[in-house]
Amino acid sequence: MMSDIERLLDRRNDGTAATIGPGVVTSPYATVGKKRVLTGIRPTGPLHIGHYAGALENWVRLQDQYDCYFLIADYQVADYADDLPFVRNAVWEVALDWLAAGLDPERGSFVVESLVPEHAELTTWLAWFMPVGMLERNPTLKAEMDAIENPDDAMTKGKSVPVAFYIYPVMQVANILLPRAHLVPVGEDQLPHIELARETARRFNRDFEPIFPEPEALVGRAPRLVGIDGHAKMSKSRRNTIDLSDSVEAVAKKVRGMYAGPPRKANEPGKVQANPVFAYLDAFDHDVANVRALKERYEGSGVSNKELKDRLTAVLNELLEPMRDRRAKYEQNMSLVREAVEHGTQCARVIAAETMERVRDALDLDYLRKFRCRTEPARRR
Ligand code: TRP
Repeated sequence: MMSDIERLLDRRNDGTAATIGPGVVTSPYATVGKKRVLTGIRPTGPLHIGHYAGALENWVRLQDQYDCYFLIADYQVADYADDLPFVRNAVWEVALDWLAAGLDPERGSFVVESLVPEHAELTTWLAWFMPVGMLERNPTLKAEMDAIENPDDAMTKGKSVPVAFYIYPVMQVANILLPRAHLVPVGEDQLPHIELARETARRFNRDFEPIFPEPEALVGRAPRLVGIDGHAKMSKSRRNTIDLSDSVEAVAKKVRGMYAGPPRKANEPGKVQANPVFAYLDAFDHDVANVRALKERYEGSGVSNKELKDRLTAVLNELLEPMRDRRAKYEQNMSLVREAVEHGTQCARVIAAETMERVRDALDLDYLRKFRCRTEPARRR
C-alpha cells in the first residue's frame, strides 16, 4: 500500500533527478511527467464572468493536460488589512467559485498561499537577489501604487502603500518558483511579474544551482471584460459585475439594466464598438455566425437593445447553469470544499518542502548538516 504522501508524489510524478537509461541523468529540473502550471487569484470577493472569460475557462482546460496548482493568494491582500474576516470569507468563496466553474480538485491542487509558509521563506531569500530597480520599473506595480496614493474616484480613499505591497511581486515570483512551475496562465496585466520570475530564475540557476525552470506566461484568449455600466473594468467595488453565483433572475435583471451604448431608437443603426453587449456576446456566445449577423444588422438597419439583451441573457444563463448545479452540490456539503483545499495545499507543501531543501542546499544554508569549524577562513564570493 502506498502512503498518502507517496500517492501524492506519484501523481506529481516529478521525475527529478530521474535516470533515463543507464547513466543518462536528466537535468535537475527536467520533468518526466506532466509540466507544472501555477496560477493564482487574490481572495477579494466572489468571482465574476470577467474572471471566467479571462482566466477560469482557460484553467479548466489546462487541468486535463498539466499538473496544475491554483493558488488563493491570501498574503497578497494587504489592501484589505483592515478587514481580515472579509479575506477569510473570500478564501472559501473563491474555492467554491472554482469548484462551481469546473476546476477539479482531483486533477489540480487548490492551494491557500499562507498555509504553505515556504512562500514566505522563499520570498525572503529571493528578495536578496532582486534589484529594487527591477520592482521600480514594474509597470503593473507602479500603476497600482499610484492608484492607492492618488485615487481617481471617490470610492477609494487615498492611503499609504504598505511594505507588503512593495514586496508582493517578489512573493508572486516565489509563488511561481516554489512549485518549479513551467507555465503561468495570466492576464496581460501580469506579464511584468512573469518577466521578473524569469529573470530571477535565470539568475538563481546561473549563480547557484539550476533548480528552476524558466516559467512561461500563457495569456488567455479573452481580453478584459468591461463592466455592465460600461466602465473599462468589471470590479466588485463598482457593483458592475455579473457574478458566477448570480441566479437566473439576477442575470436577467443585470443585463436588462446594462449600459448598451449611446441612446438609440430600435430601428436606428449603432456602432458595435460602442455597445458593450457585443463585447459580452463576443466573449460568451458560441454561435459566432449569429453574432456576426447581429452586428451587421445592428450597423445596417438597427437591432433593438431588447433583442440583443435577451440573447445575452440566454447565453449567460446557459453558461452559468452547470455552475449553479455544481455549486448547489458543494453548498450542501461544504466539507468537500474544505477537503479540496486541504488536499491541494498538502500536495503543494510536499513540492514546496522539496524545493526549499534544494534552495537551502544551493545557498549552502544547511548550517547543521554542513557544520564547519569557525577557524575555517571566511570566503567571499
Ligand atoms: N497577482 C495576481 C492577480 O492579481 C494573482 C496572483 C498571485 C498570481 N500569485 C500569482 C498570478 C502567481 C499568477 C501567478 O491577478
